[in-house]
Amino acid sequence: MNVTLRKEEEKDYKKVYEVNCFAFQQENESKLIERIRKGKNFVSELSLVAEIDDEIVGHILFSRIKIFGDSVFDSLALAPMAVSPKFQKKGIGRKLIKKGMEKVKELGFDSIIVLGHKGYYPKFGFQRASKWNIKCPFEVPDEAFMAIELTERAFEGNAGTVKYPDEFMEVE
Ligand SMILES: CC(C)(COP(=O)(O)OP(=O)(O)OC[C@H]1O[C@@H](n2cnc3c(N)ncnc32)[C@H](O)[C@@H]1OP(=O)(O)O)[C@@H](O)C(=O)NCCC(=O)NCCS
Repeated sequence: MNVTLRKEEEKDYKKVYEVNCFAFQQENESKLIERIRKGKNFVSELSLVAEIDDEIVGHILFSRIKIFGDSVFDSLALAPMAVSPKFQKKGIGRKLIKKGMEKVKELGFDSIIVLGHKGYYPKFGFQRASKWNIKCPFEVPDEAFMAIELTERAFEGNAGTVKYPDEFMEVE
């Protein structure tokens, strides 16, 4: 199985929409991606697709967020990520996260926040955000709200509450 990873292009939008719908079994995440792409927090280099035989089977997106504490700290939210159901558990998600984190570092970001499966993200070094006193703006289980420092002590002195941009909060 030959998996290729690359930056998402406009021609991929429809397929990415479908992959997210299949993976999440609802359209919310696909619509979230559409809103993020239109907003100022979108970083096109951090929207990646995974392909097998020219067919898109996975997608990952990182976009800008801020953490408000004593000062305002720029970070990234990993959201959403999806692999088509029939291609799950074959390591494609792992490849997308690894490649994504490489790109994130290349672009000079030094941290990532994720709200997601507690059994999944720790494999890639994510820890509870509460470890750094970083809080979610709404009620979530502590173990589901995670973060990673990509440079040493990136979060030091940056405790605070994440502010998700409006595109995350819009409910349709
Ligand atoms: C979560 C998701 C993106 C993972 O993609 P994937 O290609 O199946 O993941 P991988 O095959 O790379 O799995 C990497 C590791 O995580 C494990 N894993 C996969 N899905 C998992 C899950 N839901 N919970 C816990 N562990 C999981 C795998 O067993 C593997 O472990 P290993 O390396 O120790 O063997 C995919 O299952 C998906 O699209 N799910 C539906 C949408 C979703 O929930 N997205 C994430 C929102 S937080």
